[in-house]
Amino acid sequence: MELTINGEKHQVADDGNRLLLWLLRDELGYTGTRFGCGAGICGACTVHVDGIATRSCITPLAALEGKEIRTIEGLAEENALHPVQQAFIDLQVPQCGWCMSGQMMTAAAFLAANPSPNDEQIVEAMGSNYCRCGCYVRIKAAVQQAAGAMAARQDVLA
Ligand code: FES
Ligand code: FES
Repeated sequence: MELTINGEKHQVADDGNRLLLWLLRDELGYTGTRFGCGAGICGACTVHVDGIATRSCITPLAALEGKEIRTIEGLAEENALHPVQQAFIDLQVPQCGWCMSGQMMTAAAFLAANPSPNDEQIVEAMGSNYCRCGCYVRIKAAVQQAAGAMAARQDVLA
């Protein structure tokens, strides 16, 4: 089968039953996508499929032909980090870091769909990504900062 990941085409020998997380990590070297629970609960493995935040640990390859898969390695823009990445750095969000690629992929997909969220919407959108280090206050602040940066950029472009 042929899969498109971060804009590159990959030929993959598989019957479609393998889960995306293991193709990414074990075969293609996209180890920024993390294994947490393996059961679709924690969000550590989140990637984008056609722009939608998707848990790669429960997504079989058969569901992905013809779709655009994006991992944390492909989130940055041509000459700059994605505003979500920049905000997570600026606010020194991570502690151990294990959950962070999933947090950022969830936040980026959320802000693409809702560029001007209120606090409650941020909490709801990020609420199913778990952080065992408890960085939730900084995660929320970073999503707020990224939303502001994206809004400012739209103003400049308008
Ligand atoms: S590792 Fe996929 S949701 Fe936890
Ligand atoms: S930073 Fe350690 S689990 Fe989130």
